[in-house]
Amino acid sequence: MCAVNVVKWGWMQEELDRLQGEHLSRQLVATELNPEGFLERQGQRMLNLASNDYLGLASESADRSELSNMNSLSGAGASRLVAGNDPIYEQFEQEFAAFKGTERCLLFSSGYMANMGIIPALVGRHDYVFSDRLNHASIVDGIMLSRAEHVRYRHRDLNQLESQLRKAPKESRKLIVTDTIFSMDGTIAPLHDLVTLKDRYGAMLMVDEAHSGGIYGSEGQGLVHAMGLQDHVEVQMGTFSKAYGGCGAYVAGDAILIEFLINRARTFIYNTALPPMVIYAVRANWLRSRQESWRRKALLARTQQFRTALQAAGFDTGASESQIIPLMIGNNAQAIAYSEALQAEGIAAVAIRPPTVPQGTSRIRFTLMATHKEQDLDWAARCMIELGQQMELI
Ligand SMILES: Cc1ncc(COP(=O)(O)O)c(C=O)c1O
Repeated sequence: MCAVNVVKWGWMQEELDRLQGEHLSRQLVATELNPEGFLERQGQRMLNLASNDYLGLASESADRSELSNMNSLSGAGASRLVAGNDPIYEQFEQEFAAFKGTERCLLFSSGYMANMGIIPALVGRHDYVFSDRLNHASIVDGIMLSRAEHVRYRHRDLNQLESQLRKAPKESRKLIVTDTIFSMDGTIAPLHDLVTLKDRYGAMLMVDEAHSGGIYGSEGQGLVHAMGLQDHVEVQMGTFSKAYGGCGAYVAGDAILIEFLINRARTFIYNTALPPMVIYAVRANWLRSRQESWRRKALLARTQQFRTALQAAGFDTGASESQIIPLMIGNNAQAIAYSEALQAEGIAAVAIRPPTVPQGTSRIRFTLMATHKEQDLDWAARCMIELGQQMELI
């Protein structure tokens, strides 16, 4: 490093040293996915209990000739409103809207971009956004960008939400926003009650189905659809980066909402669309996920067994009710030590620490995959329990 940079970057080094001292620093590690629910890191093969590839479609895609044969563009060439609107986008949007039971749908280049574009389009200064405290960072950032009044309610606390809604000016524009499955806790949003509240107080309801799309509902339409609420939720957003094993995102809703977002969502207007070849790949995975219902069934059945085994051994899995199972530890250093011990045994498990989760709630976040084998999960649970006992976590 040259002398001038030492002076310039001194403040960065101090911050990195502080993170290291508090067991909060993060590093990238090269990782290769394998179709049987394993991954390889630094030459070590590990059971993959850390990905969002819930249905196993991302890790299987490497083997699929149908994708490599797809003769499609590597880039959109421009944003869609300029010259980059390849016909595949609108074809997929129409198909996906029909699947979701809405009038229209619009694609975004990622879930993060979708939340950063949709929320500031819907609300601005003088408006109110009511947001569950455990909502994903992209929702929080979208709210901050909107400059609306940001009102946070305790996780799934409908009483607090109602009292906040009551206090907001009657004539103000209001948006309630929630994950449907909370990414670090595996809990499920009380969607029926949220619909009742938003109707009572004249608010719009926006949901983020990132972790429920592809998994819940008869063909994976998501939790809103599974609960029969598709006509009651104004804004249904979701990603293709988790169960669908690709990347990108969608928002589904009334035709007027989509027309408005095309004109007002800056991350749609000023962002080059995903390459058409990615849309073909995502669409192929989506079609496959609809047909192969065994993936949804296997994922949810194995999750139930796995969680029950951990709970029976005395682990605290919070209020998880989905394929995301947190193992609550609390202390950052202990969470890291436990994840390292698991990795040494061949289990990929990631310690999740602040600021991703609130202070004092560090945890290991386990996520299952449809392609995991029962015997591999039994082995992992035994190993986790043994190490947990040795490290006095249970
Ligand atoms: C609830 C939620 N919303 C949005 C996102 C962002 O999605 P993407 O990774 O497609 O940008 C994530 C991803 O981590 C998420 O968990």
